[in-house]
Amino acid sequence: MRAAITAVVLLGAVMPGALAQAPEARAELGRRLFFDPLLSSDRTVSCASCHKPEHAFADTTQVSKGVGGKEGTRNTPSVMNSTARVTFFWDGRAGALEEQAIFPIENPIEMNLPMATAIERLNADQEYAKAFNELYGGPATAKSLGRALAAFEKTLETANSPYDRYSQGDDAAMTDAAKRGRLLFIGKANCATCHSGEDFTSDRFENIGLFNGKDLNDRGRGDVTRIEADAGLFKVPTLRNVAITAPYMHNGMFAALREVIDYYDNPDARVTGALRRDAKLDKPLQLTEVEKQDLQAFLEALTDDRFRKSGEQPNGNL
Ligand code: HEC
Ligand code: HEC
Repeated sequence: MRAAITAVVLLGAVMPGALAQAPEARAELGRRLFFDPLLSSDRTVSCASCHKPEHAFADTTQVSKGVGGKEGTRNTPSVMNSTARVTFFWDGRAGALEEQAIFPIENPIEMNLPMATAIERLNADQEYAKAFNELYGGPATAKSLGRALAAFEKTLETANSPYDRYSQGDDAAMTDAAKRGRLLFIGKANCATCHSGEDFTSDRFENIGLFNGKDLNDRGRGDVTRIEADAGLFKVPTLRNVAITAPYMHNGMFAALREVIDYYDNPDARVTGALRRDAKLDKPLQLTEVEKQDLQAFLEALTDDRFRKSGEQPNGNL
């Protein structure tokens, strides 16, 4: 990684022209592709149809509609803050962003376009053909398409929320409720054991009890590894911007953050017969009403400023 960065920097110094601007230009190409329905069979669906920019690039419905109104079974997650992720999809079946992009294009219930056709369309378009040629040294390929989309997605990092400013020492950046919520998050409510680190994810697969083999029968990681004990494991999602990415969980079963908090407070009250649920969730948390509100206030403090509606106070998450 370091070697690659050094090489780019050195080349940039020698050739201050196109190559030095390549990262930005590649991200810009990726942005155009992300919003372009050309990548779907009937030219009606783009990546942004499901990954909506104003909702941190997540969708607002339980499941999204692809070409012909077809629906899948999983909720569309945010694609923000993906740079540091090590696997993609709720079951982690893709190992890199560059590789992930191919799946939705070819998926019959999403964009339903064979990769060969996608590449033909891109190379038949003068502007795209020119851009791929300049930035990736040849006609578009599945590989360079994936790289361009990933270059754009990697610009979608957020580190400018009330929580971030609070962490950097601005004590007034979070409300008292959010501050109390933070202590619950890392303490009594035990959230930080899985939602850890800068992006609030351990990048591991965990079972929070949303698999019972009956009405909840998405096996998640188990279908990827083919190991029975993995059925019910899902990737721990980042919680950055979570207040604007409802509904929640791999199947979108919770419509609001409060429902998520009520679930964690007492999982058995909501789901019966959960299989292999993590032992950390065995004992009800017994959160009081105020504690639930505080925890929610903390989650709301993780929203990047770019999504704050004008007129709202910078720390106005209550
Ligand atoms: C029809 C809706 C739809 C379209 C169109 C779509 N996606 Fe998705 N996207 C989803 C869903 C649903 C998931 C989760 C699927 C799963 O986990 O099995 C997902 C997952 C992802 C993820 C993984 C995020 C994570 O945290 O694991 C990325 C990245 C992504 N999509 C990028 C794209 C790109 C790039 C495009 C366009 C080429 C695209 N998506 C088009 C619905 C869509
Ligand atoms: C044992 C690990 C673990 C613990 C503890 C945990 N989570 Fe999670 N969290 C997960 C996993 C895994 C998912 C995804 C589960 C799924 O979709 O089936 C998730 C999903 C979520 C989501 C939905 C995010 C989205 O984009 O859909 C929220 C919100 C959330 N957790 C908040 C919390 C809070 C608040 C706590 C503490 C009360 C907590 N979590 C404790 C592992 C954990």
